[in-house]
Amino acid sequence: MSFPTDRPRRLRRTPALRRLVAETSVEPRHLIQPLFVREGLSEPVPIGSMPGVVQHSADTLRAAAVAAVEAGVGGLMLFGVPSLRDAEGSAAYDPAGILNTAISDVVAEVGDATVVMADLCLDEFTNHGHCGLLAADGSVDNDASLRAYAQMAVAQAEAGVHVVGLSGMMDGQVATVRVVLDDTGRGDVAVLAYAAKYASAFYGPFRDAVESRLVGDRRSYQQDPANGVEALREVRLDVEEGADLVLVKPALGYLDVLASVVAAVDLPVGAYQVSGEYAMVELAARAGAIQRERAILETLTSVRRAGATFVLTYWATEAAGLLTGR
Ligand code: PBG
Repeated sequence: MSFPTDRPRRLRRTPALRRLVAETSVEPRHLIQPLFVREGLSEPVPIGSMPGVVQHSADTLRAAAVAAVEAGVGGLMLFGVPSLRDAEGSAAYDPAGILNTAISDVVAEVGDATVVMADLCLDEFTNHGHCGLLAADGSVDNDASLRAYAQMAVAQAEAGVHVVGLSGMMDGQVATVRVVLDDTGRGDVAVLAYAAKYASAFYGPFRDAVESRLVGDRRSYQQDPANGVEALREVRLDVEEGADLVLVKPALGYLDVLASVVAAVDLPVGAYQVSGEYAMVELAARAGAIQRERAILETLTSVRRAGATFVLTYWATEAAGLLTGR
């Protein structure tokens, strides 16, 4: 039997050949470490559904930020868990609120040595757990939510954040935040738009991490997993509204969306490897079903191969260490 003499296996024979021809790399700078800080803690508290991830105290948050910087990660994404929640999510825009104080603590600690980002969304701060404010009929009121986001953006900018992460999926959120930042003399704060964010079951463990009060779901604002073209519309609007960076979320189940977004825009595109993706690998590895470190690096490589410039991943600091052999 004869076949073409082009033999792809020739280039796979040795580790050096494979290294030479690798099309994709993952470097520490590509990784963004999400970190949770909870008000009033003196010790970190483990998150049951995310083995290895904790809610930090103010002190351990600073230490985790330093460790991430030393590992060479590209950035940090901060999430705050307040003690008190109300219908307006007012702790989100109180300058003394947990997320705003965490931003200033972390910026004081690491300065410009990494990129400090914060989640700009109300779900951790509202007593109903939605990403926006509710109208009298219980629906999520888009434009009232935008007014709250604007206040949140001012508070986060005041605290020194480098990038605000708009994850609420309200229409017009990017323009609203861009305008208020510019009008308050914070034109240098960049906007990361969670442009294509799907209503996903894979956010399950995150809801534990932030002790979410949500009853029901977010399908009236997050996207239907069935839709790919709609992601391009969301992205186009966010780019027109002034986004600096755009994000696709979750990552692994949406690599097709990621690749089409990368092809459609001239901005850096990121992907968020979410809590459920993390938990699947951790729990499967604990069950002895897969090799943990190989699986971690394979998932990150896949997200990069699909075109992501940066990846939010709960493994960021650890993976940076694996990649550099430290
Ligand atoms: C909203 C937000 C969520 C996540 C990041 N930002 C939760 C949601 O939309 O329900 C999920 C991240 C994850 O699952 O890792 N503040």
